[in-house]
Amino acid sequence: MPIQATSKIWHNGKLIPWEQATLHVMSHVVHYGSSVFEGIRCYGQPQGSAIFRLPEHMQRLLDSAKIYRMELPYDLEELCAGVVDLVEANGVAPCYIRPIALRGYGEIGVSPKGSPMEVYIANFAWGKYISGHGGADVCISSWNRMAPNTLPSLAKAGANYMNSQLIHMEAEINGYSEGIGLDVNGLVSEGSGENVFVVRNGVLYTPPLANSALSGITRDSVLTIARHLGLSVTEQALPRELLYIADEVFFSGTAAEVSPIRSIDRIVIGDGKPGEITKKIADEFFGIANGLKPDRFGWLTPVKVNASEHLSA
Ligand SMILES: Cc1ncc(COP(=O)(O)O)c(C=O)c1O
Repeated sequence: MPIQATSKIWHNGKLIPWEQATLHVMSHVVHYGSSVFEGIRCYGQPQGSAIFRLPEHMQRLLDSAKIYRMELPYDLEELCAGVVDLVEANGVAPCYIRPIALRGYGEIGVSPKGSPMEVYIANFAWGKYISGHGGADVCISSWNRMAPNTLPSLAKAGANYMNSQLIHMEAEINGYSEGIGLDVNGLVSEGSGENVFVVRNGVLYTPPLANSALSGITRDSVLTIARHLGLSVTEQALPRELLYIADEVFFSGTAAEVSPIRSIDRIVIGDGKPGEITKKIADEFFGIANGLKPDRFGWLTPVKVNASEHLSA
């Protein structure tokens, strides 16, 4: 779906017109992938709108920057305030919010020392990410996720998404909605832009972060909701074949939200319909995000924007 332009973009503390948020082709990031970024959703509520887990996302941005020795001249509070200001100025909700910190125009060598940090935040309307009614048809990718100590997977860095693109393009070309990457040892890692959850015999499993997975904010939300619902939850390494014999498999992610998986490599998961545990978790997740259930975990930052869309749990 083409980007739906809004009016303003936040750049280094100021709101500038969308069209003026441009970069020089010789910027460090263009050549070496030197950026860290976030993806955040703002949901419509019965009154106004609310950003889902804003401080957690902005803290992860700061953490990603720290891993890459990028010094950001803004603290958590300033970054969160920047997002709220932008969303309220653009008046678009529901929306997707994309903060990015990048190494800009300065020197062409690999060393980033002479290239200044630039921080931008944009927001725009964006709908469902994972295609497939009643569950997605996905594959295991022939591409592995990054090996530990190569590109750090706890940093949400632009460069990591070259690997994601390989996984996603292969899946799409072969007629699947998404691909799941295995780690360097052939254990389940994550989707190209989502964490993976498995249900078997009533227990909820997800790979630990050491299997080259991003520390997804939605992953954390799912784990929190599952524990709240009294489910048994285990973070453990998962062999590929466990996915095929699971009762339920689903993706979690800001873009993907909670998305059931119907088949993997054309093997039908469970009875091929969204499972009971997936549905319970999704109900609670969307209920909180859409303001139809209590914000019992303190995940919402209200913004003064009237939502344009009908809400559902
Ligand atoms: C590779 C990857 N894994 C997992 C996720 C899910 O993370 P979150 O729930 O924080 O969006 C994302 C999306 O940001 C991602 O790109």
